[in-house]
Amino acid sequence: MRMVLLGAPGAGKGTHCKRIVDQYGLLHLSSGDILRRERAEGSELGKQAQGYMDAGALVPDDLIVEMMSKAVKAAPASGYVLDGFPRTVNQAEALDRSLEDGDAGIDVVMNLLVDDGVVVERITGRRSCPQCGAVYHVVNMPPKQEGVCDHDGAALVQRPDDTAEVVKNRLATYYEQTKPVVDYYRARRTVHDVDGNADADAVAALLFEKLDALKG
Ligand code: AP5
Repeated sequence: MRMVLLGAPGAGKGTHCKRIVDQYGLLHLSSGDILRRERAEGSELGKQAQGYMDAGALVPDDLIVEMMSKAVKAAPASGYVLDGFPRTVNQAEALDRSLEDGDAGIDVVMNLLVDDGVVVERITGRRSCPQCGAVYHVVNMPPKQEGVCDHDGAALVQRPDDTAEVVKNRLATYYEQTKPVVDYYRARRTVHDVDGNADADAVAALLFEKLDALKG
């Protein structure tokens, strides 16, 4: 299964991709995670992306398309779930061009719908583990011990782009540049909308129900 999971910042794409990966054995290809890894390694791409990410703006299409095309080409035959990509119509077109069978090369497009107020509350309360990447929320999904990762005991950190001010920019960027990607897919295929406002178990149940029905 080759899948695209769309949604605003903080909609729960990363949280639910992890569950989808466990349930269906897909590879998680998150453009945000790949960029954060590049930054941590101090690569040229990471340095180029840093200013855009910290301001809540998009990294230029040419850099992203090259990075994600490589990741998609290297993905296993069992399939993948794309998270955070494509994020502009240019990126969606480039993805279609890079797939052997064009837009038929993507089997499922899901779109997580979350209210803006929920987005702000989720993002400003997010904490993540710098070692294993586990994601928590100070209220909704707290770790067993405050500030400490359940899996490896590392001190949890807040992403530099998770402040209230940057979230405003990320949301504006989403409406300007990423929402048109939803329309791009709707014009070509079925987009499965999923209400992402509920708690994570309820949202996962909705996603799995749709995915199981599509798998047949
Ligand atoms: P990226 O890392 O992709 O960030 P994003 O799209 O803004 O998404 P987030 O990671 O913030 O949120 P999410 O939807 O994964 O939510 P999560 O599951 O963590 O991109 C970062 C930056 O990189 C961009 O701003 C840009 O600069 C650059 N970039 C990346 N891709 C790019 C591209 N293609 N083109 C150009 N630039 C690109 O959940 C959020 C919080 O809510 C967590 O704390 C979680 O525990 C909690 N939570 C989740 N679901 C629920 C629920 N149902 N109930 C309660 N709490 C929940």
